[in-house]
Amino acid sequence: MSTCYLNGDYLPIEQAKISVLDRGFIFGDGVYEVIPAYGGNLFRLQQHLQRLHNSLEAIRLTNPLSDPQWQEMLQTLVAENQDHNNTDQSLYLQVTRGVAKRDHPFPENTPATVFAMSNPLPAADMNKTQAGVAAITLDDIRWRYCYIKTTALLPNILLKQQAIEKHVTEAILVREGQVTEGSSSNLFIVKDGVIRTPAKSEQLLPGITRDLIVELAQKNALPCEETSISEAELHAADEIWLSSSTREILPVTRLDEKTVGNGTAGPLWRKMISIYQTYKQALRAGVETGSA
Ligand code: PDD
Repeated sequence: MSTCYLNGDYLPIEQAKISVLDRGFIFGDGVYEVIPAYGGNLFRLQQHLQRLHNSLEAIRLTNPLSDPQWQEMLQTLVAENQDHNNTDQSLYLQVTRGVAKRDHPFPENTPATVFAMSNPLPAADMNKTQAGVAAITLDDIRWRYCYIKTTALLPNILLKQQAIEKHVTEAILVREGQVTEGSSSNLFIVKDGVIRTPAKSEQLLPGITRDLIVELAQKNALPCEETSISEAELHAADEIWLSSSTREILPVTRLDEKTVGNGTAGPLWRKMISIYQTYKQALRAGVETGSA
């Protein structure tokens, strides 16, 4: 039974309960983060806490904890949930606008609900990962503030489910002819030896993994551009990658039932995943502290 955190208490997850009037439940009025912990070390904690701060500010909710308090709580959860195999963990946290009579306006004097839990994050099977995954393109039906990491994920869920029902892993989203991101991931393409990812805007989540890939590319002198990517450019790409904290960097080898590149993970993906794994190993050994 895993240990979670709810409003100041650590308790078995089965015993954690919130009110049916919580605005997270009633309205999806909250924000969240997903933070991997490798060998007990939280991955890019400062960047995750900064993004949480940005999301809270965007929904006009005061951050209920200070950064040191977040850090202490998350590290306690990591320690409480560490198993004998030292399995990596995925920490989930969410903050909602608290419990109040159902009414649209912000309630007054209502403390936020703070919840966090840990799930095991089993290591990816590199042989399987190298084979790549399939994806489809779909119209990005989401709202205009996709940079906020809100728990209101119904559009993302409907898009992901369409992908699953087509027996593919991800839906790559297109808004007015431009690619934004995946339903639960950021997107990269490679064309003629250049790595490209959509520039940050209100229309996509500023992924922590995305930022690290851009940083690692620059550090290792791999050409990388943050720029717009049209749907036509996506279809003409030599390589397509998806990135997220939990899936790391996934090569897409089929798009809309057509082969991408030569149908296997490409050479730049191989380079980048090896750089990424080295970075993770350093973090596991406790070397990394935030910057690449
Ligand atoms: N989602 N874009 C969307 C819409 C996402 O939901 C995610 C991650 C990302 C990648 O961000 P990061 O690299 O910070 O994980 C991009 C998480 C993993 C989730 O909802 O479970």
